[in-house]
Amino acid sequence: MLATVVASQPYGRATLLTVEFPVPNEAPTVAGRFFLARCTDGSPLDRTWDPYLRRTLRPIAYTLHEGKPQYTLLVPAGDDPGDRWLAQRHLGDSIDLLGPAGNGFTLDARSRALLLVSDQTSAPLLFPLVHHMLDGGGRVTLLVRKESDPEAQTLPLDLLLQNLPLAVEAHAETSTAFAETLANLGAWADCVCIALTSSDPTAYSNLMRSLRAKRLRVDAGFAQALWPGATPCGVGACLACLAPLASGGFTRACTHGPVFDLIRLAA
Ligand code: FES
Repeated sequence: MLATVVASQPYGRATLLTVEFPVPNEAPTVAGRFFLARCTDGSPLDRTWDPYLRRTLRPIAYTLHEGKPQYTLLVPAGDDPGDRWLAQRHLGDSIDLLGPAGNGFTLDARSRALLLVSDQTSAPLLFPLVHHMLDGGGRVTLLVRKESDPEAQTLPLDLLLQNLPLAVEAHAETSTAFAETLANLGAWADCVCIALTSSDPTAYSNLMRSLRAKRLRVDAGFAQALWPGATPCGVGACLACLAPLASGGFTRACTHGPVFDLIRLAA
């Protein structure tokens, strides 16, 4: 469906692109789900029918404006030509978007203490969960892994934190203190939602180890993680999105995720 760009702004080294769909298209459950963007406008100056594979864009906010759904999408920083094309869209431009697709985060209605775990690049992907939990009378704690190298900071920490409600308890730790803080915070949470930029399986195993450090057990349903890889076809056909499982196999993130129970990703 063609969506219209209604706002575009830099967000650290990334870009926030707000698009509006002409008709209601989905319930506003967006955290962890994805859109697929076709990175060409089809004009005579851009007459390359398959310039790039569709790019995966993830929403960080959803609103209804005069009955029309608006999604704010995080366009990653970097040299990818498709992402650069998206970051250069202007107000009024059209983008061919499929979605929202995939299985997002789900919060149990009984959850009251939500722990969000992320890094300085992917943390905004968890923001839609913040208001959901606060509006329901729950508590939200955010733990961000701090980049020690300023060059690696896609999103400066102060910019990241200034978009959060004051009610959110925020912690930012470098990797040495991160595991211990996660263990302490995880002991009190009743639900954990994770969005990492790395797809290294050991990163998920390390998170699981920290969560288990101060809990007797980590059951299914306690922690969910967003698999960060691209999902170019979105329908299970290309196998470009395979996520390694703790059981030793692989699964397609586009159709079976991209949000998985952490138990499936980490032993
Ligand atoms: S994106 Fe093609 S199989 Fe998942």
